Amino acid sequence: MTILITGGAGFIGSNFVLDWLAQSDEPVVNFDALTYAGNLQNLASLQGDARHVFVQGDIGDRALLDRLFAERRPRAVLHFAAESHVDRSIYGPGAFIKTNVEGTFTLLEAARAHWNGLDDAAKAAFRFHHVSTDEVYGSLAPDAPAFTETHPYEPNSPYSASKAASDHLVRAWHHTYGLPVLTTNCSNNYGPYHFPEKLIPLMIVNALAGKPLPIYGDGLQVRDWLYVGDHCSAIRAVLARGRVGEVYNIGGWNEMPNRDIVHRVCALLDELRPSAEGPYTRLITFVKDRPGHDRRYAIDARKIERELSWRPAETFDSGIRKTVQWYLDHADWVANVQSGGYRDWLATNYSAR
Ligand code: NAD
Ligand code: DAU
Repeated sequence: MTILITGGAGFIGSNFVLDWLAQSDEPVVNFDALTYAGNLQNLASLQGDARHVFVQGDIGDRALLDRLFAERRPRAVLHFAAESHVDRSIYGPGAFIKTNVEGTFTLLEAARAHWNGLDDAAKAAFRFHHVSTDEVYGSLAPDAPAFTETHPYEPNSPYSASKAASDHLVRAWHHTYGLPVLTTNCSNNYGPYHFPEKLIPLMIVNALAGKPLPIYGDGLQVRDWLYVGDHCSAIRAVLARGRVGEVYNIGGWNEMPNRDIVHRVCALLDELRPSAEGPYTRLITFVKDRPGHDRRYAIDARKIERELSWRPAETFDSGIRKTVQWYLDHADWVANVQSGGYRDWLATNYSAR
């Protein structure tokens, strides 16, 4: 028995690989293109562990995928690989269409070819688990109920449109071809190995470097934050017990405006690594808003709670404290990801704001 993970060198994928192998001896084949967001250092603790096999490759490469399926014969695919950053999708949507739409299509076709060759029992047991986002549902009014699994798709950014397209492909491959799929739509994750282009790690890293903490617009946009370990446990529950063809929303019941998030990070840093210059909030800078910025996301997670008895283990207080402490303890990891490419991205995104 083996599972195939795409994007397992990224933020959530690497957390998932570590989490999986901490609880199971079932081997993982980790297929990742190692874009700027993929980092094998996240998996350094697995060096020499025969349960983890890394293969570098692109989910758009059908020939390589066919070879991988033939050699490894996975009983499940967990599809994390994606271009994931909304701001990057605004500057360059092409890569998002290529990986998130065309890449998912190619992966589905390779999985379907493999699945068609299985015997009846293996066919019934096979799963294609697609990891998606709450952003496909669009933006909520302040008093609107949280997103359920039947909320209409209203994606607003090139990123969310590309993820919405991938969700539709996955759904169609089930309805048309019978491929046993599962889809999860999760809210904003945070935790270890989060690339510092995203809000929480960027704020930690900038604060420690004495750099501005850029809040887009008025900072009152609301996100529903979930500790990454809880996302991993939810995916394990859906893979093990989710009903084929179903969608499960995953969230932390933890809506917070961006301003409050930044204040919370600053307060923790004031406590754990006080600055001689004064409170870290002094670095907060309001900058030009993100074009098309979604105002509010919120997940109604009652379906996964009811059907699979899943609940997050972390509160925001416990999760954010662990996260800030992790960044304080891993200055080497932070320094390593701040490559030339990372500095170019900061110039592209922030210099004109
Ligand atoms: P990430 O950007 O940190 O990692 C993406 C990984 O995919 C990287 O390792 C990268 O090298 C790999 N990759 C990119 N293009 C590839 C390609 N063409 N072929 C093979 N590998 C490729 O992303 P993340 O934040 O870990 O998100 C993982 C998944 O979870 C994505 O599908 C994302 O849409 C979804 N998601 C993320 C969040 C979040 O808050 N980060 C929330 C909900 C859902
Ligand atoms: O909701 C799930 C999604 O969460 C995932 O699908 C995406 O892959 C993931 O990147 C994340 O998207 P967001 O756009 O919500 O995350 P980000 O960390 O980029 O931004 C969070 C909020 O903070 C958003 O309202 C924009 C704001 N922001 C972000 C950055 C990077 C700032 O105010 N300043 C910043 O510098």
